[in-house]
Amino acid sequence: MCGIVGFVGKEQAAPILLDGLERLEYRGYDSAGIAVVSAKHELQVKKAKGRLKVLSDIIQGGKSVEGTLGIGHTRWATHGEPNDINAHPHLSGDGKVAVVHNGIIENYVELRDFLKGRGYKFCSETDTEVVTQLLAYYYAECGDIFDAVFKVIHRIEGAYALGIICADCPDRFIAARKDAPLLIGYGEGCNFIASDVTAIIKHTRDISYMEDGEVAVITADSVQVYDYMEQPIEKERCFVDWDVSAAEKGGYAHFMLKEIMEQPEAIRKTAFNRIRDNRIILEDLKIDADYIKGISKIFIIACGSSYHVGVVGKYNLERMLRKPVEVCLASEFRYSDPLVDESTLVIVISQSGETLDTMAALREAKSLGAHILSIVNVVGSSIARESDDVLYTWAGPEIAVATTKAYSTQLVLLNMLGLYFGDILGTVSRSEYSAIIDELLRLPAKMEQMLEHTDDIKHFASNYFNHSSVFFIGRNLDYAMGLEGSLKLKEISYIHSEAYASGELKHGTISLIENGTLVIALGTYAPLFDKAMSNVVEVQARGADVLALTTESHAAEMRKTVENVITVPESHTIFQPSLGVVPLQLFAYYVALLRGCDIDKPRNLAKSVTVE
Ligand code: M6R
Repeated sequence: MCGIVGFVGKEQAAPILLDGLERLEYRGYDSAGIAVVSAKHELQVKKAKGRLKVLSDIIQGGKSVEGTLGIGHTRWATHGEPNDINAHPHLSGDGKVAVVHNGIIENYVELRDFLKGRGYKFCSETDTEVVTQLLAYYYAECGDIFDAVFKVIHRIEGAYALGIICADCPDRFIAARKDAPLLIGYGEGCNFIASDVTAIIKHTRDISYMEDGEVAVITADSVQVYDYMEQPIEKERCFVDWDVSAAEKGGYAHFMLKEIMEQPEAIRKTAFNRIRDNRIILEDLKIDADYIKGISKIFIIACGSSYHVGVVGKYNLERMLRKPVEVCLASEFRYSDPLVDESTLVIVISQSGETLDTMAALREAKSLGAHILSIVNVVGSSIARESDDVLYTWAGPEIAVATTKAYSTQLVLLNMLGLYFGDILGTVSRSEYSAIIDELLRLPAKMEQMLEHTDDIKHFASNYFNHSSVFFIGRNLDYAMGLEGSLKLKEISYIHSEAYASGELKHGTISLIENGTLVIALGTYAPLFDKAMSNVVEVQARGADVLALTTESHAAEMRKTVENVITVPESHTIFQPSLGVVPLQLFAYYVALLRGCDIDKPRNLAKSVTVE
């Protein structure tokens, strides 16, 4: 989704803005632009459709734009097609004000009509240009850009993270936020804003997160934040505990591959600090045993891969807790008039902590009285801040659009939460508890063992990369894992792919299986291995080309029927998907590589989806 970066200091702003935007490229975008104020009070706006390189070439890497104050933006089109005119920053008709914006202004049509009635002209199709012209209107009226910003934020409705510069104020920019992430970075003789810390981590790890309704006035030497009523406030500052190398490729061809390889270490960081004397310690949780015992129902709410974690979680948590668990897509939950009350625990899962649908579902559940416990990767993100309880996955920055290490760490943490609750509820026996902890401690090493031997996956990818349609089939946890395997493949390789519960196949979809159709049969869920085999035979009888995934102990049995078999180490049932998903991630990666796809930045996708 869109990215924002802003800089004010002693150095030239344009190269710093370009570098920041480059670090935000992973979020997905279709155009980019910067606005810089020169010492002569000139507001220079440069923008271009396409990759950042196009813009960078136009402005010679920033050298041709002079000035030490500026804002930059990468746009993911919502209102109006991706083109140079709709790209941000938007400049007011009088050339005084430039604005970058993330989010959507809902009442922009009404405001545009209001301004048109006063002679203002619009050149783009965007909602952002309305903000820019409204600012110019109020600035012309009151002569103070700060006052004008407050007038604007009291008139606009919707979501916004705004970066604003004014030709008459070459020493400061203004930032404002509501329902879209924005943070302030504190440097030495310089300061920043960014929609994502990755953009500025090279310069500072000292940051504060802006809250809804806040406005910040930022110069090279000062930052002053105000609340919605224009009262100055003190911001809490925090230190980002990862550095720039964590957000770089480190010798790998793609971030996705790097992040796949990082999974064992990421799981250690997620889990091992939370295990002491073979017990799970969740010190960060505020809910107590009485609350846990009184939970009547658990909802798991998320989108995309985080939702797939929830599908695994439904199976595992219901087994461990003997309480009803419903997993719901966030975009569906919010409009479903959900049955939620004070005894409902809502587990919200999100890597970015900024997904708009998930955020809206969280607020809906909260308003109905539920306790919100979120599992989030990005520290200080909106979902983390609005939850009653938050468990961080500590996976470090995830840059590839296709999630891998975030998925794996969410999965582990959700299982740990289940085990922790199960212990309190007495629904998990002592021996089972110990067996699960033992397996959890062994999980990263087993994953490492798999990641050291990827030749067979590369080989299968080269056999199948030309297929145009793939079906993943499995039962129970294998079905849940198949959802993720299928999403990974389709999002980065653009191959049509579907995940089906094997038992459901015969109720319609089996009609699509014909000679040569690739079916990836998942048979790692030991209790239903025999049933998985029957489904393999069923699709083979219709001509399917089957690639099977199973555990080492079932490999021989599988090979009696299927020639192409990938094996994964055995684990406790609840962790089997954590191992099984790794070859599926790698398969998607190598298939996409062979198809020449832009793996880290797949078409039409964004890392953090902040529109509905
Ligand atoms: O940041 P979130 O976990 O809330 O994001 C949810 C989905 O947008 C995300 O998982 C998406 O499906 C990924 N691209 C999948 O790889």
